[in-house]
Amino acid sequence: MALAADEEFVQGGDVDMQTNGVVVELMHKYWPQCSSGQGASAATLLDIGCGTGLIGKMFMHAAERDGFFASEQARTESVLRGIDFSGDMLTHVPASLYEEALQHDVDVTPWPMYADSVADISICNGVFIYLKNAAVLDEFARTCKPGGKCVLMFRHDVLPAFEEKRDAMQTLGKWRLLEKTPTMDNFPGLTAGGLEPTLFNVFVYEVL
Ligand SMILES: C[S@@+](CC[C@H](N)C(=O)[O-])C[C@H]1O[C@@H](n2cnc3c(N)ncnc32)[C@H](O)[C@@H]1O
Repeated sequence: MALAADEEFVQGGDVDMQTNGVVVELMHKYWPQCSSGQGASAATLLDIGCGTGLIGKMFMHAAERDGFFASEQARTESVLRGIDFSGDMLTHVPASLYEEALQHDVDVTPWPMYADSVADISICNGVFIYLKNAAVLDEFARTCKPGGKCVLMFRHDVLPAFEEKRDAMQTLGKWRLLEKTPTMDNFPGLTAGGLEPTLFNVFVYEVL
């Protein structure tokens, strides 16, 4: 599902941010499908560090454009939930799109608002750069159902702080890596202007 950079809601600096489209494509790829194989089923998404809800907006926009859901019921019963540190960002999250958007510092674990195994899919886009506590990765595994997917974007300059924990969780059988996207530059426009590239990969884990 290719996303055009000129989606109506992608404005300003977001136009040049390559990771958004990559994450949304992976959400569509790993969203649960109904048993008939005729489209996506209802599911619960956790958007960790949701900001203004941009990724949720992009996801639903593309889903509606492409007839992604198996039925209207599957669409309306899908639940988007988000948390973010910034109350200001959260004021922009559309209430019609996110069932709840709560203020919380993701580095403070366990995340008190989520019980175990509540999510079918979790995303974290553009947020690890701000986090310091590698135990947040345990929270992704705890809050996802077995078989659920965690779509995690890591910039290369933040990878070392998390990769030991990430790999240890695979060794411990908490999750397994399904996909690591090719290395991309998040801000090619800035790089063309002479700045160092901001390299990233998105990792998709299946919770075991
Ligand atoms: C680059 S924005 C990305 C927002 C959103 N994920 C997206 O892709 O549009 C980074 C977000 O991380 C949030 N953030 C930074 N540190 C955080 C923390 N410790 N806990 C929760 N959210 C945090 C910021 O408030 C901001 O909304």
